[in-house]
Amino acid sequence: MPGLDTFARVVKEVRCDVLAARDRDPAALGVAPAEILATWPGIHALLTYRFAHALYVAGVPFLPRLISMLTRALTGIEIHPAARIGRGLFIDHGAGVVIGETADIGNDVTLYQGVTLGGTGFAAGKRHPTVQDNVTIGSGAKLLGPITIGHGAKIGANSVVITDVPPNSTVVGNPGHPVRVDGRRVEGPDTDWIHLPDPIAEAIQALSVRIATLERMIGELSDGEQQPMAEVRPLRTVKGPNPAGG
Ligand SMILES: CC(C)(COP(=O)(O)OP(=O)(O)OC[C@H]1O[C@@H](n2cnc3c(N)ncnc32)[C@H](O)[C@@H]1OP(=O)(O)O)[C@@H](O)C(=O)NCCC(=O)NCCS
Repeated sequence: MPGLDTFARVVKEVRCDVLAARDRDPAALGVAPAEILATWPGIHALLTYRFAHALYVAGVPFLPRLISMLTRALTGIEIHPAARIGRGLFIDHGAGVVIGETADIGNDVTLYQGVTLGGTGFAAGKRHPTVQDNVTIGSGAKLLGPITIGHGAKIGANSVVITDVPPNSTVVGNPGHPVRVDGRRVEGPDTDWIHLPDPIAEAIQALSVRIATLERMIGELSDGEQQPMAEVRPLRTVKGPNPAGG
């Protein structure tokens, strides 16, 4: 069974969670910590998770899962007791949040309602996301598989993220893709499909020039007579509609 030191650690962690709610929830401005502790569902879910996790780590059977199940019924937030969560997690509103068994959450992370940190298949082992410090995950976002969300990243509401997310980036959409990295807009793909290089035309043009040079040299060798230069024609039509036009 967990001892007094475990109890003291859990109380410290819950205190940190309450302070995180007070700092990051505009609705908590001027609200006393005791009121946050009594009425914020995200705090209730974390409080019970922290106790359930301590029991789980101590090898206590059945009880951790029972606590998790009862908490879900009370708050709509489901956190597996085996998940690992750092200090200062803030779950705003909360309903519909699911944190899977092998999820790993760093410090000072913010989750809004409807966030899923889920697995993608039936394989055992590490199958849920790792979320590094200071990440914000918008409402309804689904993060699936053993991916890593880099520190300081923001995940847009309703995104579906199935690949690693670079640190300090903003990822949105389905599938989630970075739209900002280190505050700068990400360059899109090269969409200039009209001015594509034509390596075959370039090679033929180089050969034509070479043939013209050889013809001139042959002309100079044979009685100094100048031979007519070979005509080099452009390979594309200069006029007419652009084939890339839609
Ligand atoms: C992603 C988010 C964190 C904003 O991050 P940001 O780094 O400040 O990014 P910006 O607002 O500058 O937006 C970057 C781009 O992503 C787009 N974008 C932002 N959020 C988006 C979303 N959820 N889905 C799709 N596109 C989104 C913006 O339109 C912008 O597009 P642009 O590059 O064409 O201009 C924010 O939009 C978000 O979704 N927050 C979640 C909030 C939430 O869940 N609240 C619930 C409260 S109850």
